[in-house]
Amino acid sequence: NAVVESVKTVLGWVPAQWLPGGTPDPLILRRAAIGRQASRLDGPEKVRGQARFAAEVAMDRLCYASLVHSTVTLGRITRLDTANAEAAPGVILVMTHRNMPRIGTLALIGLTDLSAVGNSSLPIMQEPAVRYNGQVVAAVVAETQEEADHAASLIEIDYAVDTAKTRFDDAKDKARTPASILIEKNHVSVGNAERELGRAPHRVDNIYRTPGHNHNAIELHGVTVAWQGGSLVVHDATQMIAPSANALAKLFGLKKEQVRVLSPFVGGGFGGKGLWDHQVVAVAAARLVDRPVRLMLSRDSVYRMIGGRSPTEQRVAIGADADGQFTALVHTGYSIMPPYGACPEQYTLGTRALYRSKSFEIVQRHVDLDVVPNTFMRAPGEAIGTFAVECAIDELAHAIGIDPIELRRRNEPDRHPISDAPFSQRALTQAYADGAKRFGWERRLAEPGARHDGEWRIGMGCASGSFPYARMPGANVRITLRRDGSATVSCSAQEMGMGTATVQVQHAADRLGLPVEAITFEMGDSALPAGPMAGGSSQTVSVAGAIMAATEKLTGELLRLAGNDSPIAGLRAGDVRLVDGGIAGINDPSRRESYRSILARAARDEVTVSAAGSAPLEMLKFAMHSSSAIFCELRVSKVTGEVRVDRLLGSFDCGTILNPKTAASQFKGGMIMGLGLALTEETLFDERSGRIMNATLADYHIPSHLDVPEIDVMWTGIADPRSPLGARGIGEIGITGVAAAVANAVFNATGKRIRDLPVTLDKLL
Ligand code: MOS
Repeated sequence: NAVVESVKTVLGWVPAQWLPGGTPDPLILRRAAIGRQASRLDGPEKVRGQARFAAEVAMDRLCYASLVHSTVTLGRITRLDTANAEAAPGVILVMTHRNMPRIGTLALIGLTDLSAVGNSSLPIMQEPAVRYNGQVVAAVVAETQEEADHAASLIEIDYAVDTAKTRFDDAKDKARTPASILIEKNHVSVGNAERELGRAPHRVDNIYRTPGHNHNAIELHGVTVAWQGGSLVVHDATQMIAPSANALAKLFGLKKEQVRVLSPFVGGGFGGKGLWDHQVVAVAAARLVDRPVRLMLSRDSVYRMIGGRSPTEQRVAIGADADGQFTALVHTGYSIMPPYGACPEQYTLGTRALYRSKSFEIVQRHVDLDVVPNTFMRAPGEAIGTFAVECAIDELAHAIGIDPIELRRRNEPDRHPISDAPFSQRALTQAYADGAKRFGWERRLAEPGARHDGEWRIGMGCASGSFPYARMPGANVRITLRRDGSATVSCSAQEMGMGTATVQVQHAADRLGLPVEAITFEMGDSALPAGPMAGGSSQTVSVAGAIMAATEKLTGELLRLAGNDSPIAGLRAGDVRLVDGGIAGINDPSRRESYRSILARAARDEVTVSAAGSAPLEMLKFAMHSSSAIFCELRVSKVTGEVRVDRLLGSFDCGTILNPKTAASQFKGGMIMGLGLALTEETLFDERSGRIMNATLADYHIPSHLDVPEIDVMWTGIADPRSPLGARGIGEIGITGVAAAVANAVFNATGKRIRDLPVTLDKLL
């Protein structure tokens, strides 16, 4: 309460539902457009090819950049010969640390400061030192892309090479355990888990390994930049428009208003599309050539200079009493986090929220290697943490001889197992029951290897998924309501293919009491009020919270404009609701006046308000997590060991589903990414050289159409009374739980436990 009070003092306003005993967002019950199936508003532009992505924007006198990457891991450049490149046809500039403008370094992404941040705090082309294999060491700008690429191949570089840290196992000894990871503690002990484990009548204790993963959004990272006078225009593919604009302003010594980042469409982000070296290099090059520059990364460049998911080694040990109730839950491990990187791979976060246990021992250790900083990748942490824990649960269920869903039910917590905070809403048990019924779980045979069909062994598996709720501070919106009954909501939010504008139009329509056709949602431009980043599955509620705040302001403004001659005269904001294109009394709906009439009498064409979402206090007072039950049925060939997934079902508990069509698409996309995690995706890192060996989609396998079965999704749809609209995020949870459901089904089919991902056929022969 002290926290609530202090925030109230600072902000002057805290939404009622976030106060103890407060009432939920009224739109949870009173909704018209929200919850309806709606196609994406940006769909027609995209299928007609009219949507302009960052590397497609046309500009006069545009030239093209190509990058050169370090081929050594740690060392310094001793010879740099650019003469041949400079003499090559079409070349305008060769930029290296020798002539790159001097700039500072970036602050790292953190949850509290999104004002000016990137993914790496290393200097960008400022010095001869090389810190990881693939770091950008030169850029060529030419009249065409082909000329730039060719000239880049002519640059000669010699290096003095130092001994680099590239072996995960060797670096484990020196692993660090910093006090906190983002907002939670790195090391959590409750009771004495090792002792409880030793005494437990049932126990499992195993090591699980997950490999590194690289980002493979369909749209390659790209940027088209132009200096216009002293100002900078950047067309970027980014999930953090406002923070990128701020960061570029800081690096290049500009005022915030002098940098404009536009990113109306992004062809997939997944955590990989933040600020990396390429935007900075392109901006610097454009300054030197005094022309607009386009830099679109090759697929190879994305692997070299954009971080991916860290590999992990995780120990999960569970002790259970005779009834299967957990007495010890141990989840410890190692992941990479170089000191110049921003992303702690938080693979134990889900574990903390999923099960009750008498004792816990949770430790995350950071291994420091000389690598491109690993970064956020769809459900960073949970995607691979749930693999380890949910396999361990399945192993324990098998050891005890009970159904794995029943084992989970027996350990379902009624408050957060570690913080003891109440859950805002949680219906995982229902998600399991509903999912099991639809999937036909009762047809599963507990005995591994009991079902056959010719050369195929058939199995079923399940696992839980989990992802925390987050609402970001720093979400601002502007609402303009016009006398003709239309409204424009503006926010520099991001669209990466998930339907950002579509659901916010649905939301604003209900919030303002207008039809969806009357609402326009402007976004994708840093010139608009600063939005939150699109990450942590938080953008929708973050923007929604700001729209709530702005609507509250708008209501006050309209009541003021209505004045003493209005039928609603004397009513206060708390006495009215916005409905049917006007303001009406809650207790006496006959007291109402339309927006048109209010604005006409006040001789106003429109009214505009701006507001920021409140501090996300609900996150401090409640344990807020989405969860899911994933079911998988698959076949494993006795001859080749290959795995064919036949059916996948996800049963989700994620609060209100705002748009079933876009939500189903998000869930399925996440589950497909989960299939890649389970069966095919693996960054092959050469521990001798520190170089990625499979920097191409030919060698790094993501699921293709034939790998993806019929995917069924369903949800409880139970609103979360503590969040705007009752919604929690849905962008990342789809991938969580899938790898374990697959591995558990493989065990059910074959009797083989595969504890290191991906589950490839060589491990099953
Ligand atoms: Mo997500 S990994 O927060 O884009």
